Amino acid sequence: MLSDRPTFDVRLGTEEKARALRADAVAGLTEHPKWLRPTWFYDAHGSMLFDELSHAPGYYLARAESTVLAEHAADVVADTDVRTLIELGSGASTKTRLIIEAGHEHGTLRRFVGFDVSESALASAAATLSARYPWLDIHAVVGDFTRHLDALPADENRLVLFLGGTIGNLLPPDRAQLLCGLRAVLAPGDALLLGVGLVTDPEAMVRAYQDPDGRTAEFNRNVLRVLNRALGADFPIEAFEHVVRWDAEHEWVQLLLRATRPIEVTLAAVDLTISFTAGELLCTAVSTRFHRAGISAELAAAGFTVEHWWPDGTERFAVTLARAR
Ligand code: SAH
Ligand code: TRP
Repeated sequence: MLSDRPTFDVRLGTEEKARALRADAVAGLTEHPKWLRPTWFYDAHGSMLFDELSHAPGYYLARAESTVLAEHAADVVADTDVRTLIELGSGASTKTRLIIEAGHEHGTLRRFVGFDVSESALASAAATLSARYPWLDIHAVVGDFTRHLDALPADENRLVLFLGGTIGNLLPPDRAQLLCGLRAVLAPGDALLLGVGLVTDPEAMVRAYQDPDGRTAEFNRNVLRVLNRALGADFPIEAFEHVVRWDAEHEWVQLLLRATRPIEVTLAAVDLTISFTAGELLCTAVSTRFHRAGISAELAAAGFTVEHWWPDGTERFAVTLARAR
């Protein structure tokens, strides 16, 4: 039965989200070096900023991924006979349309499930998709994909999209846990379409996060705004500078905020005061770059078989189609 409007399953409500954010902030800000989980950029303002920066000319990853998806969407739907399309970290679900349209043409696609921590992004994507595709049954899960994968609905022929290189924002142990957890809720034959950034020229990798309009810097600093609001904190946003580095040992781009002077910050909601020395760095995200062999081995270890590897023409990004064994 098709429902006539999007349905929502809220696994991470306002209270629960605030609790998780407080716990993560205390854990990361009391360590040396200080760090934050990249999940907390995405309040309503952060999701909007992300959507803008991902369309900026220097951010080649989104463009490369769209090109590959446009080229291979018909192969993906023919290989999977997708009935339920699930998207993790779905955001605005823009590139997703390529798969939805191919799935409709193929005649098998019935349902779309968006899964994101950002309720505002999910609500606006669900509204856009339901207006565009009245034939599509739309469901949204507000949740954390590292904790709430049990919220994914059962069906035959599920295809999970995990795009945007978001998997690279997880640290290696969290990545392994996510892939194993995902495999555990899937059935043999279900599929995963995964987009990953590839190791390429360090300067190009760094430049992708240094757009001249400063959108990425604003997005990076937005996490401090989120903390100020949610934790009653008093980060002086303008005193933190956007820094991007390539870490050749870990093969990830590091997104950092540098304190431009000594700073003391009080986080009232958790009764914590922290201090930054001048020049101290706070790591707000890593964006891992992959090689074909490495990510294929990680997928295999989690119980997936890689069936296709589609790099973009410049070999800076690849989309891989893997099957749950
Ligand atoms: N897939 C989109 C958006 C990528 S940005 C694209 O390719 O453009 C990453 C998305 O993942 C954001 O929408 C963010 O809100 C979401 N996200 C980040 N951490 C998450 C988590 N732990 N659980 C669920 N969603 C998360
Ligand atoms: N998955 C995206 C990436 O790693 C997320 C992202 C894009 C991002 N731009 C950012 C994260 C800027 C932090 C800061 O490329």
